[in-house]
Amino acid sequence: MASPGGRDRVLIKSCVIGWPISHSRSPLIHGYWLKQLGIDGSYTRQPVEPSALAGFIRGLSDAGYAGCNVTLPHKEDAFRLILPADASTERLGAVNTIYLRDGRVFGTNTDGEGFINSLMDSQPGLSLKNSRAVVLGAGGASIAIVNVLLEQGVSEVAIANRTRAKAQLLRDQFGSRVMPVDWDTAADHLSECSLLVNTTSLGMKGQADLVIDLSRLPIDAVVTDIVYTPLRTKLLMDAAQRGHGVVEGLGMLLHQAVRGFSLWFGEIPRVNPDLYDLVARDIDPAYAR
Ligand code: ATR
Repeated sequence: MASPGGRDRVLIKSCVIGWPISHSRSPLIHGYWLKQLGIDGSYTRQPVEPSALAGFIRGLSDAGYAGCNVTLPHKEDAFRLILPADASTERLGAVNTIYLRDGRVFGTNTDGEGFINSLMDSQPGLSLKNSRAVVLGAGGASIAIVNVLLEQGVSEVAIANRTRAKAQLLRDQFGSRVMPVDWDTAADHLSECSLLVNTTSLGMKGQADLVIDLSRLPIDAVVTDIVYTPLRTKLLMDAAQRGHGVVEGLGMLLHQAVRGFSLWFGEIPRVNPDLYDLVARDIDPAYAR
């Protein structure tokens, strides 16, 4: 397309792919940054069914994309179709961010840094080195979070999952700092714990609440939830009422988007309160800071 100045305008394109994809808030996030930074780019939702995934990824370059985000149910299948960009992604076996370099398709996973940057942004005084954490759940999000907690020097991560065998798989993968525990005994492991993370879908709109007795949790421990619909889950409300620092799941969603944006559009965007409020209002029109 010709620009008013006569020179060819180069529109940088990215998108998020999933099946279904209509719920994704990523266009709101990247659209905010594109506008804020004055970048001539676009970021759209693309429904891609599982049988079309390989073709879509192969065709990214011809379709003019700089890359894309990948969400459910494609994160693991996409991993098998790209070159892992780093050792962390190799360990996780799942990608959420794809980008093109020198004609090749690379993939990376930004869920772990999204989690940790959101946590540290909100709780700058929290020290994780040699601390203990309890993680509820052992699905895809849990693997990324356990990986980053171990990278941060956490000495022990107790993982309670309804299906204990999946917590055991994380122990097999990450070694003796990971301790699988029975789902029903999670509360017994909260003493001496600095961080409690819910990675299950419990507490999400339409699902049962997560019920856990927090009475053994040291009062300076931080409680986080990856669920962001509602913005503040019952777990976080209970924890806040007890005086714990709490970190809402929306922060992770915003922070995980940063690296993809910089890979495609060439500038590092900031997660600021304005963006938080914009997405929070989209989730809950009654939201007020
Ligand atoms: P994600 O990629 O978001 O982690 P997932 O891989 O489907 O999603 O994992 C969902 C997590 O929520 C799992 O740990 C799951 O426990 P199981 O491994 O036993 O399935 C947990 N979960 C979902 N519903 C649950 C429930 N009703 N009670 C307890 N845990 C639940």
